[in-house]
Amino acid sequence: MRILGIETSCDETAAAVVDDGRNVRSSVVSSQVVLHARYGGVVPEIASRAHVELVNEVIEQALVEAGVTLHDIDAVAAAHGPGLAGALLVGVSAAKAIALTLKCPYLGVNHHEAHIYAALIDDPTLEPPFVTLVVSGGHTLLIAMDDHGRYRVLGRTVDDAAGEAFDKVARFLGLGYPGGPAIDRVATGGDAGAIAFPRPMLDDGNDFSFSGLKTAVVVYVRKHPQANVADVAASFQAAVVDVLVTKLLRVADQTGLGTLVIGGGVAANSALRRRLLDEGTNMGLRVVLPSVGLCTDNAAMVAAVACWRLAADGPTSLSAGAYPALGLD
Ligand code: KG4
Ligand code: ZN
Repeated sequence: MRILGIETSCDETAAAVVDDGRNVRSSVVSSQVVLHARYGGVVPEIASRAHVELVNEVIEQALVEAGVTLHDIDAVAAAHGPGLAGALLVGVSAAKAIALTLKCPYLGVNHHEAHIYAALIDDPTLEPPFVTLVVSGGHTLLIAMDDHGRYRVLGRTVDDAAGEAFDKVARFLGLGYPGGPAIDRVATGGDAGAIAFPRPMLDDGNDFSFSGLKTAVVVYVRKHPQANVADVAASFQAAVVDVLVTKLLRVADQTGLGTLVIGGGVAANSALRRRLLDEGTNMGLRVVLPSVGLCTDNAAMVAAVACWRLAADGPTSLSAGAYPALGLD
């Protein structure tokens, strides 16, 4: 089953060709970061227009890199939610148009679910059940994946997503956009123990809150304008990582599930990966960290999950649309 996947839910225009849900023949990601950087965040209208301009070229490149033509494709998939409405519609429309032309199945897939399946691409031995943390710019979700297509959301953010907090703090510190990679980089030269930022809701259930932590950074820096930026970045990052890892390990304990999987852009964070691997392994848990390129938005994960969804549920109707607020459960 050879699937062409398309991803346009936010500010990455991506296409990939994946065989049988795991064998990535090509994965092309065209980032719009330079277009949004001067605004300090993604501008939805700019994102939609850029997707329109880029999508055909990116699909073409994915086919060329895979060494195939459209006629070698068995099904076409696009992330149809959650995400920015206008941005999602570009990928969905492109995928439907190709499916109509080729008379092959179209699949609209869940972007969160795709982030989880990124781990299955990298580790062919990985199978549910497992506990997974999907941490991106828009979401922070703790999920028990009981089987393919069966999810229980056990925790979510009550305000800002973890990635959003990284982006906002980086912007405040003048580190640029996107903020996560910038903080990750700067933090390597800082002392993570320098400032004791709060660990919001650490012992308060499985939900998350990052808005107060962001404010704590702002308040601290205004009070200490000479503070070392690397120390602030490292201390902020340590607080986020502490909360994410503590809650993920706790849920593993609560559910009795012995495998931990992370996904989404923040799963690329070096401190999070290091700490989870150390602590999880020490607790006798299996820790699966997808490669960094599969954590941030890409279309290989879209094609991967589409392969499973097609086998389980069949194609998506061409009359289905885009679903900006799509959930997982
Ligand atoms: O999954 P993703 O690429 O797009 C969404 O679905 O939102 O996640 C993007 C988010 C951004 O907030 C970005 O700052 C964050 O992931 N991110 C990181 C790192 N790389 C990307 N956050 C922390 N450390 C990183 N290395
Ligand atoms: Zn994402």
